[in-house]
Amino acid sequence: MLGPAILAASRSDKMRRIVSAAPVTKPVVNRFIPGETVDQVIPIVVDLTEKGLELTLDVVGEDITTVEQSHAARDAYLELIEHLAGLGLGEKAEMSVKLSMFGQALEGGHELALANVRPVVEAAAAIGTTVTLDAEDHTTLDSMFAIHEELRRDFPQTGCVIQAYLFRTEADARRLAAAGSRVRIVKGAYKEPAEVAYQDKAEIDKAYVRILKTLMDGEGYPMIGSHDPRLIAIAQELGRKAGRKLDEYEFQMLYGIRSEEHLRLAAEGHRMRVYTAYGTDWYGYFMRRLAEKPANLLFFLRSMITK
Ligand code: FDA
Repeated sequence: MLGPAILAASRSDKMRRIVSAAPVTKPVVNRFIPGETVDQVIPIVVDLTEKGLELTLDVVGEDITTVEQSHAARDAYLELIEHLAGLGLGEKAEMSVKLSMFGQALEGGHELALANVRPVVEAAAAIGTTVTLDAEDHTTLDSMFAIHEELRRDFPQTGCVIQAYLFRTEADARRLAAAGSRVRIVKGAYKEPAEVAYQDKAEIDKAYVRILKTLMDGEGYPMIGSHDPRLIAIAQELGRKAGRKLDEYEFQMLYGIRSEEHLRLAAEGHRMRVYTAYGTDWYGYFMRRLAEKPANLLFFLRSMITK
């Protein structure tokens, strides 16, 4: 029951102010968001790649209110790409973007988000890497998939995310399981109504497996975004049955969550990508991590009391 309450709080400006100002918040936030600036995150990129891991980097931020902020988001990614260029990691360090941060919810937002994300995708391609469009709440997805399709005309390697909890996703997966596509499958992290999404964890897991099978049996490149040991084992089994080599799909997990498992899968020969978020506007991202595991909230509250 705590999860939905935390997700509701993630949209509250009042809670944002309280949580962001609490002095004890920072160390807890750092577990999931290891830096605020590109200079702080680059050493982490170097460290993780030296350990045989790959990354997808996310500049945190969403729910912006002005066009200027959307341009600042674009520029933050362009700055990141300039830094990555010096490392020469190619697709070992890709990027994830949230179109809401590129202005998708503003007036004329679809065109604005496309205009902002295009130069980022272009700059990423120029250094041999790519961009994946994150999936946000269900009202944004038609626009996200249209932008994805548009970008893929010039940059076919552009990836997107689909969410197992949504009823629509099995059809999306069938459409996307085509040659050349890169698709991350996740359970889904937003508070969605019963009209559009499964509410029961077991139902979501079953849908995840059906979608995963569609992706594995298809011709695209599946990216399995999950920390769930059962789903990871099923993915390995489905990959084997579909005749895929270990580098024909990849696992993805979030920075700070089950880090020993990142290393274990990489040591087994899997491609393992760590989704690493950084930046100052971390509130929404942080609250979704708390909602996924209410024990994180208890840890957070305990640190408030004991400080
Ligand atoms: P589940 O929630 O069942 O967790 C399995 C186990 O993992 C838990 O028992 C626990 O041990 C551990 N765990 C999971 N979350 C934890 C946490 N926050 N803190 C500590 N331990 C935790 N969602 C979305 O809507 N749009 C998106 O674009 C993305 N992108 C994305 C990228 C990547 C790489 C990942 C891994 C996830 C996302 N997500 C996402 C989030 C996703 O939808 C989902 O909320 C989380 O991955 C949690 O679901 P699991 O599959 O890990 O299973």
